[in-house]
Amino acid sequence: MLKQMGRTSQTVLIILYVLITVKAFEMEVIPAVRVVARIGETLILTCNTTGCALPNFSWRTQMDYPLGGKVYNNKTYSTLTMSPVSAENYNDYLCTVICDKEKKEKSVKVELYSFPSDPVIETTASLVVGETATVICKVHAVIFEVHDVFPADHLELLLKKEEHILHSKTFEGDISTKTETKTVAYSFNLATEDNGKEITCVARLQIAGMDFEPKERSTSLKLNANFGPQNTFINASPGNLSMEGHSLKLTCVTESNPPAQVFWRKHLAKETIQHFVENNVLSIPHAHFTDSGQYICEVINPVTNKTEKASVNIVIQAPPKNTTLTVFPSSSVKEGESVIISCTATGVPTVQIILEKKIGDVITTLKTEDGKYTIDKAQLKDAGKYECTFTNKFGNHSLDVELDVKVPPQNITVLVYPSENVKEGENITIVCSTYSNPPSQMILKKVNQEREIILPVVNGTFTLYNVTKNDTGRYLLDVFNEVGNNIKVIEIAVVGKLEKPDQILPLIIAFSCVTAVAIPVVAILIYVSRKAKINGSYSLVKALRLKV
Ligand SMILES: *[C@@H]1O[C@H](CO)[C@@H](O)[C@H](O)[C@H]1NC(C)=O
Ligand SMILES: *[C@@H]1O[C@H](CO)[C@@H](O)[C@H](O)[C@H]1NC(C)=O
Ligand SMILES: *[C@@H]1O[C@H](CO)[C@@H](O)[C@H](O)[C@H]1NC(C)=O
Ligand SMILES: *[C@@H]1O[C@H](CO)[C@@H](O)[C@H](O)[C@H]1NC(C)=O
Ligand SMILES: *[C@@H]1O[C@H](CO)[C@@H](O)[C@H](O)[C@H]1NC(C)=O
Ligand SMILES: *[C@@H]1O[C@H](CO)[C@@H](O)[C@H](O)[C@H]1NC(C)=O
Ligand SMILES: *[C@@H]1O[C@H](CO)[C@@H](O)[C@H](O)[C@H]1NC(C)=O
Ligand SMILES: *[C@@H]1O[C@H](CO)[C@@H](O)[C@H](O)[C@H]1NC(C)=O
Ligand SMILES: *[C@@H]1O[C@H](CO)[C@@H](O)[C@H](O)[C@H]1NC(C)=O
Ligand SMILES: *[C@@H]1O[C@H](CO)[C@@H](O)[C@H](O)[C@H]1NC(C)=O
Ligand SMILES: *[C@@H]1O[C@H](CO)[C@@H](O)[C@H](O)[C@H]1NC(C)=O
Ligand SMILES: *[C@@H]1O[C@H](CO)[C@@H](O)[C@H](O)[C@H]1NC(C)=O
Repeated sequence: MLKQMGRTSQTVLIILYVLITVKAFEMEVIPAVRVVARIGETLILTCNTTGCALPNFSWRTQMDYPLGGKVYNNKTYSTLTMSPVSAENYNDYLCTVICDKEKKEKSVKVELYSFPSDPVIETTASLVVGETATVICKVHAVIFEVHDVFPADHLELLLKKEEHILHSKTFEGDISTKTETKTVAYSFNLATEDNGKEITCVARLQIAGMDFEPKERSTSLKLNANFGPQNTFINASPGNLSMEGHSLKLTCVTESNPPAQVFWRKHLAKETIQHFVENNVLSIPHAHFTDSGQYICEVINPVTNKTEKASVNIVIQAPPKNTTLTVFPSSSVKEGESVIISCTATGVPTVQIILEKKIGDVITTLKTEDGKYTIDKAQLKDAGKYECTFTNKFGNHSLDVELDVKVPPQNITVLVYPSENVKEGENITIVCSTYSNPPSQMILKKVNQEREIILPVVNGTFTLYNVTKNDTGRYLLDVFNEVGNNIKVIEIAVVGKLEKPDQILPLIIAFSCVTAVAIPVVAILIYVSRKAKINGSYSLVKALRLKV
């Protein structure tokens, strides 16, 4: 029996041993040792046991603060559910399990974090190239408030330009319980190429052993660097040298952010440009040579008010145009007057002006000054056709004018046939020649007569037929035209009677005339008249007609 008992107890011991060895009481807390929980989320701590049929669980915090969660006990494990996790859960939790008087406990440290929103980037009001730009990154950090970054002392703020880190800052040891904005600022000299580059602010939580997403949050902005205007120039299409009638397009090219406002001007032009201006393009559909000149485009950056100018010289080529040929005071002047012949034209390139005088086939090129030719004292030889030729490489044109120089009667020659002393019954012929322009008229009057006798004139020839003594006397020959007159006195004496027609030589009575140049119209009368006489035909007129 004892033996049996001993056997039995041996067996029980073995079984117990086996039981103890296989099913030893153990416990664990999940997660173990430490957990970092995000404020607002749900955190479940599990206290699990093995090897205990009826474990007695209890949860408490260090210093016995409220648990801040709900405990659910199951047979072999217990959970502590914190939903949502709040600042009061920042604590050490201890799970105690009692199993048949055996007591085991383990603790877990609950740390908290909050990272609910992205950081905010701010920049200086207007970013201007060449000036200092400051970029500020802010994270609002209030400890123990759900919507802020916590724990702020583990925060790192990073400022990046594209992939390049500009600046970074950690806030270790900065355990402030007050509301605080964690900022990082970086200043740099803004360059043109920075425009459009991405500035990123990264807020990073650096907690050892932390395993959650996101560990970092970031915000980016594209730099809007104001610059310019710079490198401004005008592009002329098809070019700065164009032909009249063609279209012309001027484009003002500039580099500016924001886009520059463009103003067009023309140098020395009184009014603003009337052509089609659309921002930076000025178009002239049909260029006129008067469109030549300096065009200026002025650009202004609306943010910085900086301006820049560019200009281009446009030459619109054209054949001679608007040609004029004027004679001052008139194309018909009196001898001795001053005359100005002037030729003007416009055209590009500069119009060459040639003034020529044409008399018959004789062409004389005159020396002009600015297209002007001055005759100080006009003479009959200056009369004639004047022609102005306007030439440039795109064409030519000519104008002409007839200059008339009026000359009063001069170099008057009076011939009396057969002589001033004739016999009764003879015929007296008075031939007068003169030089004038226009041709002169003549009147022959007998003076000291009760009634004035005006003798008819035919082609400068007066004839007194069958003279009597009564014809003796003084005769006045008035030679005149519209610009002057000249009077000659002729004494006729009728003596005795005509006996026989004899050979009579004509006598020339030349009255001196002190007037200037004239063109001979009637000349060499002696020979002609003599010839006429010899031929028995007394008509001097006829003779003259033959000659002229
Ligand atoms: C408790 O531990 C056992 C053994 O390790 C395991 O099988 C069981 O899933 C755990 N229970 C919980 C709730 O973790
Ligand atoms: C568990 O233990 C506590 C004291 O530690 C006791 O008050 C309680 O009654 C026990 N519960 C059970 C079911 O044994
Ligand atoms: C206890 O755990 C079992 C199995 O894991 C489960 O079916 C049961 O619902 C749990 N009871 C409680 C009160 O959690
Ligand atoms: C630019 O000019 C405008 C108008 O004259 C003015 O209102 C503005 O303040 C100026 N801006 C700067 C940056 O000078
Ligand atoms: C016209 O443009 C050419 C080059 O394209 C330049 O050499 C010339 O000086 C310009 N002429 C004027 C009048 O601007
Ligand atoms: C022609 O020239 C005159 C004098 O030079 C000027 O007054 C006139 O406006 C011009 N006409 C044109 C069409 O250019
Ligand atoms: C004037 O133009 C005509 C054709 O229009 C040409 O034949 C002539 O040679 C030109 N004269 C001059 C002097 O250029
Ligand atoms: C004078 O003229 C008339 C008419 O022509 C002529 O008949 C006459 O013979 C002339 N007398 C002299 C003397 O020649
Ligand atoms: C000329 O006069 C004479 C006498 O005086 C006269 O006989 C003669 O007919 C006159 N001749 C003419 C043409 O008048
Ligand atoms: C000449 O004049 C006088 C006086 O006037 C006159 O009486 C006479 O008849 C005239 N003689 C001739 C020939 O006409
Ligand atoms: C007119 O007379 C003047 C002097 O009497 C002389 O020098 C000049 O050559 C004459 N003119 C002509 C056209 O015969
Ligand atoms: C005057 O002279 C012109 C040309 O010399 C001649 O044609 C005309 O017939 C003459 N007149 C008279 C009335 O003889």
